[in-house]
Amino acid sequence: MLRAKITATGSYAPERSLTNYEIEKIINTSDAWITERTGIKERRIAGESQTTSELAYYASIKALAECNLEPDEIDLIIVATVSGDMPFPATACILQKLLDAKNAVAFDINAACSGFIYAMSIANSFIQTGTYKKVLLVGVEVLSKFLDWSDRSTCILFGDGAGAAILEPTNSENGILSTHIYSDGNLWEFIHLPGGGSKNPTSNHTIENKLHYIKMRGNETFKVAVKTLENLVLDTLKFNNLDPAELSLLIPHQANLRIILATAKRLGISMDKVFVNVDKYGNTSAASIPIALDEAVRAGRIKKDDYILLEAFGAGLTWASSLIKW
Ligand code: ACO
Repeated sequence: MLRAKITATGSYAPERSLTNYEIEKIINTSDAWITERTGIKERRIAGESQTTSELAYYASIKALAECNLEPDEIDLIIVATVSGDMPFPATACILQKLLDAKNAVAFDINAACSGFIYAMSIANSFIQTGTYKKVLLVGVEVLSKFLDWSDRSTCILFGDGAGAAILEPTNSENGILSTHIYSDGNLWEFIHLPGGGSKNPTSNHTIENKLHYIKMRGNETFKVAVKTLENLVLDTLKFNNLDPAELSLLIPHQANLRIILATAKRLGISMDKVFVNVDKYGNTSAASIPIALDEAVRAGRIKKDDYILLEAFGAGLTWASSLIKW
């Protein structure tokens, strides 16, 4: 059976780090509150002139170099992002130009924090049907440019970064074993960016009322996330006839350490089997899973034949998981 296999990963985070202590000077919050409620200590912030496609480019060239692929060998590019360079064209097309990946087809996926796993799911199907053979997946966000720096309930949470992966076909039993994607549009208002679309076209009104910034009902989202992810991870293991004890590493979306702890507890696995970097980057939405995956690979935390579970939850609402045999 043909499956997709991750043959390389790469990631990039902007140099500028913004610590909780620095945010204390901007709004009424504290390092103690942010650390206790989220686990975040710092996040990376893109430079004023840095674009989403630029971050995506740096992550992509690292992944391409890792598996000795030239950009013109790539036949599909999918970029998962909710903070692209502009509403259109797709950031994937801008990335295609930056890479000079002239033989690829390129498009974006908008599934917020679940976007990278959504993209994996699509790439997996294309690879299994033989449509595409060398796929570049990127999860990337520059959320700092969509944050209201006077809203303490959101600006402390998010950060910028990019992660990339190369997917190729394999006949072996190692690769992506399953992907699972879900959404519930009834809850779209929980996390959204109201301005700049057809509902609220950009105007003085949208700017004066800060409709061009991310709005989130954090506590309600938190409760749905914990419950949904607990079921998601168990269902994903069950689908693959695996026991939680057989899992080598859980790579959760890095939104909040308390959500990650709750999921690990439900699985009955110890935290040394869970990858955490939310302290360093905050919530980088679609970039969170591929950055974590790349860091886990480079830190030697993933070995051949390991079972790896990826899971995410975000705006839409959307949620998604994937089980990989490395
Ligand atoms: N500093 C100090 N106090 C704060 C801050 C802050 N930065 N932010 C909120 N508070 C206060 C609130 O005003 C409130 O005060 P009150 O009790 O006097 O009214 C109190 O802290 C508690 O606020 P809650 O919102 O209930 O705090 P909670 O424990 O839920 O933590 C958080 C907030 C961190 C946002 C949490 O709800 C969360 O992580 N939610 C899930 C986020 C998520 O997973 N999103 C999905 C992905 S995002 C995407 O898709 C783009």
